Amino acid sequence: MSRKKIALIGGGQIGGTLALLAGLKELGDIVIFDIVDGVPQGKALDIAEASPVEGFDAAMSGSSDYKDIAGSDVVIVTAGVPRKPGMSRDDLVETNLKVMKSVGEGIRDNCPDAFVICITNPLDAMVWALQKFSGLPANKVVGMAGVLDSARFRYFLAEEFNVSVEDVTAFVLGGHGDTMVPSVRYSTVGGIPLPDLVKMGWTTQEKLDQIVQRTRDGGAEIVGLLKTGSAFYAPASSAIAMAESYLKDKKRLLPCAAQLNGEYGVSDRYVGVPTIIGAGGIEKVVEIELDAAEKEMFSTSVKAVEGLVESCQKINPDLA
Ligand code: APR
Repeated sequence: MSRKKIALIGGGQIGGTLALLAGLKELGDIVIFDIVDGVPQGKALDIAEASPVEGFDAAMSGSSDYKDIAGSDVVIVTAGVPRKPGMSRDDLVETNLKVMKSVGEGIRDNCPDAFVICITNPLDAMVWALQKFSGLPANKVVGMAGVLDSARFRYFLAEEFNVSVEDVTAFVLGGHGDTMVPSVRYSTVGGIPLPDLVKMGWTTQEKLDQIVQRTRDGGAEIVGLLKTGSAFYAPASSAIAMAESYLKDKKRLLPCAAQLNGEYGVSDRYVGVPTIIGAGGIEKVVEIELDAAEKEMFSTSVKAVEGLVESCQKINPDLA
């Protein structure tokens, strides 16, 4: 059986980390694509030189020619510009939309059967545009946000309860922005829902509210500290979990930006929802029951996504 092939479009901070993680996990051979000459080649060679020490076998190469991504099984897109302090994810629309057009066409022409994971921000609008530009089926084009937002939520909760991160499950729904919806009811520690933990005196509602807000601001917190870019380790880990679920047909239930076709009352838009990822791509969008307050937050989040999609359509009328 030959190895799988993974193309990483964008060889910056996230792209380099993705290559290292995919190598360490032996998910397949890796091609890093970037428009900056030398960078993808240099990162690929550097990681390849770590492989004898770490003991993994994966061919690593760098390229600025889309032909080299031909036949990829998975494509992870980070091409574009990241946030700087004071910028919101939405400030990136104009620049990154142009990047999505060239990337989408590159994928369409070279690996139309791939499972495509988009990380470029503003995520929900960029993955929507990438699906349109590439013409790939919507169940094969997905956005990475929910796994990252949930990981942040899980980490903060594990810290608060002083328990292993492994025993904390959490869900974050909605768009990847300030309006995201960290679900308190569906998040648990060892199966115990958070509201029960408040009743048990393990934490207070006030503390929980602060953690929810910190989760919403999780990306900005890192941008504020780094000052020259945005988060890259946790975003890369999150996308690798999605790629692995596809490549190994694990059928994990992961919150992802998926195209909705009537689910949650939304159509032709990408929004963060629980999904099952297996060999068929997004095999299922899981519709969980939302209470009145959650419904309201979710609909505010969907409106924010809608506003971004409208901006994209104004910039590029082909998307209208
Ligand atoms: N095609 C391919 N690569 C491109 C293109 C393009 N048209 N335009 C830019 N790039 C490359 C840049 O050369 C750079 O190497 O994309 C890479 C982006 O890397 P970084 O600037 O280090 O950004 P990173 O932190 O990896 O984040 C990438 O993910 O989380 C989001 O908001 C973030 O949109 C940003 C993206």
